[in-house]
Amino acid sequence: MFNKAPKKEDKNSEISPFMDRNLALDLVRVTEAAALAAANMVGRGDKVTADQVAVDAMREALNTMHIQGTVVIGEGERDEAPMLYIGEKVGEGKGPKVDIALDPLEGTDITASGGPNALAVVAMTDEGGFLNAPDVYMQKLAVGPGVSPDALDIDAPIGDTLRKVAREKGGRVDELTVCILNRPRHDDLIKAVRDAGARIILIGDGDVSAVMATADPDTGIDVYVGSGGAPEGVLAAAALQCIGGSILGRLLFRNNDEKGRAERWGISDLNRIYTTDDLAKGENVVFAATGVTDGTMLRGVRKFPGGAKTSSLVMRSKSGTVRRVEATHNFKRKTWVPA
Ligand code: FBP
Repeated sequence: MFNKAPKKEDKNSEISPFMDRNLALDLVRVTEAAALAAANMVGRGDKVTADQVAVDAMREALNTMHIQGTVVIGEGERDEAPMLYIGEKVGEGKGPKVDIALDPLEGTDITASGGPNALAVVAMTDEGGFLNAPDVYMQKLAVGPGVSPDALDIDAPIGDTLRKVAREKGGRVDELTVCILNRPRHDDLIKAVRDAGARIILIGDGDVSAVMATADPDTGIDVYVGSGGAPEGVLAAAALQCIGGSILGRLLFRNNDEKGRAERWGISDLNRIYTTDDLAKGENVVFAATGVTDGTMLRGVRKFPGGAKTSSLVMRSKSGTVRRVEATHNFKRKTWVPA
């Protein structure tokens, strides 16, 4: 039942079997801190400040963790993001060497307008475990654990994919619900899904949450398809490694500058189709998310005089454990209170 003791030489540099349990619980404090901070900005029409307070809080919380962390998916390249930039070292500087993918506020516009499904998200794994995805678009196709990854073909007409998914789920295409970001670039895709007979939920923002929803039968979402941020694709893959399900992704480039970004991150095959494992290697992924606003899988922050309640998910790929953490924060007793 319990994992074997870690090898001595692994102790300080890798996530050991014992350590990742504790890291997972520490990680949820990190997303709670960012969500609590961002929650103060819900509906205030200021996405820049909403993001900034979440970044500040997440960074401070990450720096209390017993890790030697490197941000590989973060707020941007060093010259454009002063904090939590790609390559920034975070943590106490002692403990396992880990790579970190994060989005302190996934859904900045959502938060500014008080819409649904804004999250604070962090994933962690052994060094080299995440794709160093540039900040470009990614074409994505994702399903939950009830469907074999073989049913997914990112180049096939979406109607064919939906028929395969329906067959694997033992149902009909008209019983499937597909989630798509509501963007003009998806007009043809939306039409093709409708022509195939499936139902659609169009979302304004937040495709990490939408991909995760395919893995939870209670959400009623079976398939996520469309293009969104590539960094969000890595975070979504990290979540699916823990909760089950699979995603395919292909980077999309609008110009040579974006291609140059990818090449700078060591990506030579610009047309490569990435699997879940390519985006987030499976063994040691730890993932945490806390709701900022109410969403499909998580409740948003509930504030009350002197405190707040948060709702989080924390998961580990090794065990497949998915924990829901409902926390009540008492700001009167805390040393840290969201600004
Ligand atoms: P932000 O948190 O950066 O605002 O991202 C929200 C989001 O909806 C992501 O979930 C998604 O991947 C991306 O934006 C889609 O990009 P675009 O808004 O350009 O279509």
